[in-house]
Amino acid sequence: MTAVHPRVLGYLGRALSLELSAVQQYMTHASLAELWGDADAAQRFRQETVEEMQHAERLVQRMLSLGVAPAASQLRPVSHAADLIGLLRLNALLENDLIGHYGEAVRFCLLVGDRDSEAFFRSLWDEEQHHAEDLAAWMQALSPYTGLLDRARF
Ligand SMILES: [Fe+2]
Ligand SMILES: [Fe+2]
Repeated sequence: MTAVHPRVLGYLGRALSLELSAVQQYMTHASLAELWGDADAAQRFRQETVEEMQHAERLVQRMLSLGVAPAASQLRPVSHAADLIGLLRLNALLENDLIGHYGEAVRFCLLVGDRDSEAFFRSLWDEEQHHAEDLAAWMQALSPYTGLLDRARF
């Protein structure tokens, strides 16, 4: 068992809460899309659910390898919207929070010289960046004009 900075454990715990919130949100959005008769969107959200669940699993494994009991303390309430583009906007916000969180974790690990944890957080950071890019492309395909507005806001 490696000694690790308590704040690194904090980043892991908060990440687990965020990833499990993402699982709950994508799972709910898949069911919503199904209800709306949009099988294609439902399938894409289901795929996202699986990927976020795998992220949560990697966090659990990392915590166990550091001798810490995984305990996600706070699940975010799922946010809803009236249509697909609305759901995608909410998902973009959630992915943005994950990117911000992992970016902060990476910077902290660099600061304290924890290379192992830095590499761990960086790979999750990378994957959330890809999620955000895929979402932006999806939004752009659905509604080019809205996509431009969203980019202007970030
Ligand atoms: Fe994730
Ligand atoms: Fe994600």
